[in-house]
Amino acid sequence: MRIVLMGPPGAGKGTQAKRLMDQFQMAHLSSGDIFRAEKASGSELGKKLAEYMNAGALVPDEIVVSVMAKAITENRSGGGLLLDGFPRTVPQAQALDEQLAAAGKPLDAVAVITANDEIIVTRITGRWTCGQCGRIYHVTSLPSKTAGVCDDDGAALTQRSDDKEEVVRSRLAAYYKQTEPVIAYYRQRQANVIEVDGMQVPDAVAAQMGQALEELSGK
Ligand code: AP5
Ligand code: MG
Ligand code: ZN
Repeated sequence: MRIVLMGPPGAGKGTQAKRLMDQFQMAHLSSGDIFRAEKASGSELGKKLAEYMNAGALVPDEIVVSVMAKAITENRSGGGLLLDGFPRTVPQAQALDEQLAAAGKPLDAVAVITANDEIIVTRITGRWTCGQCGRIYHVTSLPSKTAGVCDDDGAALTQRSDDKEEVVRSRLAAYYKQTEPVIAYYRQRQANVIEVDGMQVPDAVAAQMGQALEELSGK
């Protein structure tokens, strides 16, 4: 299956991606994770990405499309693809459509996770992520067994530099202005758009999304 996972910051895209990968055998390509790895490498591209990311603004389309097109081309997971955080603008969605059409591998579904702004701020400011395996925790709703340490591999948990409240508010504004129109774009193109209520507990979100995708794959 080839799926685009959408939703505002903190809706639970990364959290659900980890579960969906196990259920459907797909490669998880998170544009945010790819950009953070580039930032951490200290490269010139990483420095440029940081300017936008630290301000909670979207990275320009030309940069995003070239980095993500390369990541998709290099993906060798038998064709299964879970795109998390990309595309985030209509021009990015058009570029992705062209790339997938040229490869004869169109999208199967667009899954949108919804959540309201106040919950989002609480979730993001309490998020801790494993520096080793990427597992996502929350200080109150999904804590690790030992504070500051990953349950799976014992590595240290870290907080993202763009997870301060004022930056989250900018990320939300960018989402409503630039990313929500992508959902309308996919609807117009008759894509299978699935909407899941992200305000439920993670297991309920996963069950609802998994069921909707199973139905599609069985069609
Ligand atoms: P990116 O890394 O994609 O960040 P985001 O979209 O803001 O989303 P998050 O990763 O913050 O949230 P999430 O939905 O994955 O939630 P999570 O599962 O972690 O992008 C970062 C930046 O990179 C952007 O601002 C931009 O600058 C740039 N960028 C990236 N892609 C781009 C593109 N295509 N174009 C331009 N620029 C781009 O969950 C959050 C917290 O909530 C966790 O603590 C988790 O434990 C908790 N939680 C999750 N689900 C639940 C639940 N159901 N109940 C209770 N708690 C929950
Ligand atoms: Mg994420
Ligand atoms: Zn870990």
